[in-house]
Amino acid sequence: MGNGKWEWEMDAILTVLNVVLLLGGYGVATGGPLAWGLCYNHEMSPSQSYCDSTDYVYPCTPGVEYYGRGALPIYWNYNYGTIGEALKVDLLSHPEYIENNATLAFQAAIWRWMTPMKKKQPSAHDVFVGNWKPTKNDTLAKRVPGFGSTINVLYGDLVCGQGDEDSMNNIISHYLYYLDLMGVGREQAGPHEVLSCAEQEAFNPSSSPASAS
Ligand SMILES: *[C@@H]1O[C@H](CO)[C@@H](O)[C@H](O)[C@H]1NC(C)=O
Ligand SMILES: *[C@@H]1O[C@H](CO)[C@@H](O)[C@H](O)[C@H]1NC(C)=O
Repeated sequence: MGNGKWEWEMDAILTVLNVVLLLGGYGVATGGPLAWGLCYNHEMSPSQSYCDSTDYVYPCTPGVEYYGRGALPIYWNYNYGTIGEALKVDLLSHPEYIENNATLAFQAAIWRWMTPMKKKQPSAHDVFVGNWKPTKNDTLAKRVPGFGSTINVLYGDLVCGQGDEDSMNNIISHYLYYLDLMGVGREQAGPHEVLSCAEQEAFNPSSSPASAS
């Protein structure tokens, strides 16, 4: 597909950079829902502190909350820990650095887009450009190549496997909106089953981070 693929990937990155702002109570901006931009750099009304106390590699710092922050929001202590280690910044103690430093926020977002969370898993980039071949487990978990699995890599069960849910549909609508802006026909993005992760199991379930799937 040549250049087209690259353009699509830019669309997808723009989509996730923007749309994620709608999750978990990110605020509303003017211009209609599809025109919302990078208006907030942290989750407006976190529903929880996103501390997984069973994680001994990246234990939560007392009093610190790991709600979504950044251009492509990071959630959970273990994700702040992993990304902080990669970028050599102590995000486990100072997740607020992501809110205060735009350079760091975008470094984290690009790292997150390009890096698989676990060995043998694809990155969002891998799924998006079609490098990823589903394993038997993936197929059993209904993870098929397509935009839905890209959402799954980035958000897991925060968005996926919850049925036809608003936060997922917002992401898909934004993606299609960007395709329109770039003059790529929506029909080329594939059918709803491929765009959606409504029925998929998360690559990394948040409730049982140690389990293999
Ligand atoms: C922001 O983060 C970048 C990348 O880690 C770092 O080089 C820079 O010093 C930081 N800026 C401030 C003001 O802390
Ligand atoms: C597939 O899933 C099973 C059951 O969850 C797990 O034990 C196994 O390690 C998985 N295989 C791979 C290659 O991830």
